[in-house]
Amino acid sequence: MTEIRELILDKFFSPNGGIPDQKDFKVTTSKFDENKPLEKDQILINLEYISVDPYLRARMQGVHTFVDPFKLHEPINSGCVAKVLKSNCPRFKAGDHVSGYFNWQEKQIVNVTKEVVKVDPNLAPLPHFVGVLGMTGLTAYFGLVLIGKPKKGETIVVSAAGGAVGSIVGQIGKILGCRVVGICGSDEKAKFLKSEFGFDEVVNYKSSTYEKDLKNACPKGIDIYFENVGGKIADPILFLINKHARIPVCGTISTYNAPIEKDIGQRAQYFIFSKQALMQGFLVFDYSEQETNEALKHLSQWIKEGKLKEKNVIFKGYDHIIEAFTKLFNTTNNTNIGKVVIDVTDQSGSSKAQQ
Ligand SMILES: NC(=O)c1ccc[n+]([C@@H]2O[C@H](COP(=O)([O-])OP(=O)(O)OC[C@H]3O[C@@H](n4cnc5c(N)ncnc54)[C@H](OP(=O)(O)O)[C@@H]3O)[C@@H](O)[C@H]2O)c1
Repeated sequence: MTEIRELILDKFFSPNGGIPDQKDFKVTTSKFDENKPLEKDQILINLEYISVDPYLRARMQGVHTFVDPFKLHEPINSGCVAKVLKSNCPRFKAGDHVSGYFNWQEKQIVNVTKEVVKVDPNLAPLPHFVGVLGMTGLTAYFGLVLIGKPKKGETIVVSAAGGAVGSIVGQIGKILGCRVVGICGSDEKAKFLKSEFGFDEVVNYKSSTYEKDLKNACPKGIDIYFENVGGKIADPILFLINKHARIPVCGTISTYNAPIEKDIGQRAQYFIFSKQALMQGFLVFDYSEQETNEALKHLSQWIKEGKLKEKNVIFKGYDHIIEAFTKLFNTTNNTNIGKVVIDVTDQSGSSKAQQ
């Protein structure tokens, strides 16, 4: 028996909102039998990289929202990359790296499903397989390409542009020949998105001139608004949408820590009706295997051609998972650009940004 670390949800969050708190989680240890024989189609894995994502908050409230809740006192799970230590499945051998939805637990036996896939470390750094070549990249692709249906020369606006999804949406928009305008919360992020990811303009939603800046950045109006944030930031966008605009609603991170209000504020319906626009919510998990393979083919090709890049913010060690998770919702001094992952093979505890 060996001792392994795991991270469990100790207490559900209040349904009345609030920022996730370190005290609702616990890093615990448990005994693990590495020599237990594997059943058919099982693999023994060692966790390497964990993805933290805003949607996980919705799974920590103890009620069904758009996703099922986690169980209390059991390890949380999310998109992860792991190394195969032993395999009783013909698709994998010891030494392979795999991605899938795994528990936040150092070692574990996994029943192989079609979601568990072998990843190629020669194609991209391992963290990219929970980012641009995983859920993040697929979300950006499905929302922008399949719902937004961008045409060359159109104007795309994307909010949370410095985040994991937004930074990929902007780059895909450029690859497809569009004008891309990002919205983010700091001038430093804005500068980076323009210089490193090729955004045409980026406006800071915290600026007192936000509405004017947005209008100036979109002289031909907005054809696609990729919605990541919701709330007040999105309101001025509706005034700028063009006829037949498309609004893929990927998420509304500004509302996740707030109680659901009966008064939903500014109504979008008038703008959608008057511009004969399309507003469609979507979940990355709803797309078919064929659509996923097609998207991954394009994303991998763009990476190979050097047209698509991912920046990672890497935290290190089990003790920093929750710090990394809660920081996703911080808007006062959020320096994160790109996809946040935790390297759980390294216990040094510091965080560093890695391209
Ligand atoms: N539909 C799906 O299947 C799917 C899949 C993945 C993600 N999503 C959604 O996509 C969105 C982006 O996810 P992500 O993984 O890219 O997030 P992320 O990398 O965690 O980015 C979060 C960024 O959002 C901004 N933000 C946080 N709280 C905010 C607030 N209250 N107001 C304005 N901006 C705020 C912050 O940047 P600033 O410094 O710029 O404020 C932060 O860095 C989320 O809404 C998420 O739920 C949906």
